[in-house]
Amino acid sequence: MRISKVVFPVGGLGKRFFPITRAIPKEMLGIIDKPLIHYAFEEAVAAGIEEFIFVTRHGKNSIEDYFDYMFANSEYFNIKMGSVCYVRQNEPLGLGHAVLCAKNLIGEESFAVMSADDFILHSKSCLGEMIKLYDGSNMVATMNVSSEDVSKYGILDPDRETEKLVTAKSVDEKPSIEKAKSTLAIIGRYLLSHEVFEVLEKLEPGIGGEIQLTDALLKMIPSHGLTGFKFEGKRFDCGSKEGLLSAILHVANQNGKLCRVIEDFYGDKK
Ligand code: UTP
Repeated sequence: MRISKVVFPVGGLGKRFFPITRAIPKEMLGIIDKPLIHYAFEEAVAAGIEEFIFVTRHGKNSIEDYFDYMFANSEYFNIKMGSVCYVRQNEPLGLGHAVLCAKNLIGEESFAVMSADDFILHSKSCLGEMIKLYDGSNMVATMNVSSEDVSKYGILDPDRETEKLVTAKSVDEKPSIEKAKSTLAIIGRYLLSHEVFEVLEKLEPGIGGEIQLTDALLKMIPSHGLTGFKFEGKRFDCGSKEGLLSAILHVANQNGKLCRVIEDFYGDKK
């Protein structure tokens, strides 16, 4: 099924990175010389996306400035830019609320949602691989996390499983270890039916007092199903300091000159 639009929710506060995110959007934190949002954008372009919708807020203007620069220099970046637009999320009321803010720009078609702080290092576009298998049901990227981490994620209750896909009979946002039905966590890549907006509009705040996208996915299971895509590649939670540092080291390690800096660092420590 063709998917031409992606929503980038970039309205979060990024509290785990205070104080830097008081002035710099989390999505603009750098992996060496490119911000996180650049990598997510490249993944979306490689997936064939043509329209890019940023759900942004006060203090996030550097994202717009960055994409202005990319538009003006698309040959340098060797990237097909498509069309970019911005919609505001006036209050950070949660990921589900951020997605709802894009309603009028989506219309009646399925669309993608990507969290730039979930950075996936792989030669293939994770979003592109999902789109190849997308059949119109709601789909999320999923991976196993350690049981201590289940309370940070939306966790699937798996039903049928194949090599790449898992059908969920339920999903729970940030369950306790005791309550989690598995360790299969939702990672920030979604392919959604436009009907999610009707559900989000009626949704009460969930855990943390936020409008949770996971709660909307749960309500839609009887009508739209929920499929997890077990993606390939290494994923970094760049919403956390550990994840961002790890991503920087992995990218540096793939670069001849920067790799030597890491070797020097370990040499000095011996
Ligand atoms: P997070 O749960 O990582 O929240 O959001 P956050 O505010 O960015 O970071 P912390 O937890 O305070 O450190 C997941 C994604 O949802 C977006 C974020 O920008 C991120 O891409 N989001 C979250 C919004 O766009 N709006 C919101 O109200 C909340």
